[in-house]
Parts: sequence; structure tokens; C-alpha cells
Amino acid sequence: MSILAPSMIAANWWNISNDVQALENAGCSWLHFDAMDGNFVPNLTLGPMFLKAVRPYTKLHFDTHLMIDNAGTYIDDYVEAGANSISVHWENNPHLQRVLTQIRDGGAMAGVVLNPATPVNVLEAILDDVDYVLLMSVNPGFSGQPFLPLVVPKMQRLARMRQERGLKFLIQVDGGVSAANAGQLVRAGADVLVCGSSIFNERPLAENVAQLNQSMATANAVEI
Ligand code: DX5
Ligand code: ZN
Repeated sequence: MSILAPSMIAANWWNISNDVQALENAGCSWLHFDAMDGNFVPNLTLGPMFLKAVRPYTKLHFDTHLMIDNAGTYIDDYVEAGANSISVHWENNPHLQRVLTQIRDGGAMAGVVLNPATPVNVLEAILDDVDYVLLMSVNPGFSGQPFLPLVVPKMQRLARMRQERGLKFLIQVDGGVSAANAGQLVRAGADVLVCGSSIFNERPLAENVAQLNQSMATANAVEI
């Protein structure tokens, strides 16, 4: 069964506790937090203090996507703030194996992220050291961008690599994911679907969650 991970960048920041509660009531198990530093991507968002502030109020899995330079410097802060999984980009982490080890040593799941233009074969040497791979289906930095279909063949290729090597890492997809493409993504191999605008742009949230869950479930059923 695939996991839906609402991207909190698109939530109502005036009343974030309401949104977290609504997602929990709607049966969500993960929340996705986007950290942006204004260098690696042209936007600024969440530091570890934000996760720390929300952490006492929910038991949901905190999935943290770091779009920041020098990620290694901040891993321990995000772990301490309560992140359950942390992903870092391949593109700006020359010492990737070290950073992933640091994440796992802190007790969190370690993920590596690829931008849309980065091919999946760059991961060949590191796949044994990851708990999940996040394939971006938009160029990172903003919520609300259109889905880039080029991610689908990349995902199919990655799913094949996983099968051929008998590995168990999860495949995550992020950017422009909606009920219109969720089924296709699950069929291509996605285990975790990150959704920002398709969950938060319209209300009630529970309806959007239900619609996305249904598209994901239908895809599974078709596969059988
Ligand atoms: C983009 C972020 C995503 C994104 C999701 O840089 O990593 O999490 O904001 O938002 P939507 O689903 O609106 O593309
Ligand atoms: Zn993200």
C-alpha cells in the first residue's frame, strides 16, 4: 500500500495545528517538510525549529526533504527536532555516503533525492546505503508547479534496478502529484507520494486525501 505524504509547505500557516489534526483524522501517517535555504533553491522555508515546535503535538512520521547546501552540518539538528526520515540531494552532496550514514546513525531513515534532470544511474554505487530514493517531478523550490512526466521512465528504471539487486528501498515522488497522475505513479513503482497543492489548495482536506488514496488504491487493484 502506498503512502501519502502531505507537503506542509502548502498548508495554512496561520493555523497549522488545524491542518495537522485534519490530516491525522483523515488517516494520513506521514507529513513532508521542505527545507529550503535560498542557495540550492531560490526560496526560503523551514528550519529544524519548526519541526521541533510541531513535534510534541502529533505522532505522525516527519519526513524531511533538505534542499540546502552543507546538509551534513544540519542533520543532527533535524534528527534532534524529531525528523523520522531525512533526504538530501545528490546534486549538492559530494560526500553523500557520509551524510547518509550520519542520518542513519541518528536513527532516521536516509534518503537521496534526484532533480528531474539527473538520471537514476548516478545512484548505482549508493543504493545499498539508502532507505528511500526521492525522484523530483518538478524542479525544487516551489509548490504548485506542473508535473514533469519525464519522472515516469526514470521511476520505472529505478524500480527495475531495485528488483534486479533485491533491494528494499522505498521510491518517493514529489512535485505536481495529484489524483490525475497518482495511479500512474504507483504503477511505475512509487511507494510514497508527496502532495502539496493537491491536498491544501481546496478544502476540506479529508476529501482531497480520500480522492488521492482512491487513485492510489485503484492503481494497485489494476496491477493485480
Ligand atoms: C518542491 C517541494 C515539494 C512541493 C510539493 O520543491 O519539494 O514538496 O512543494 O508541492 P506540489 O505538490 O504543489 O508540487
Ligand atoms: Zn519536497
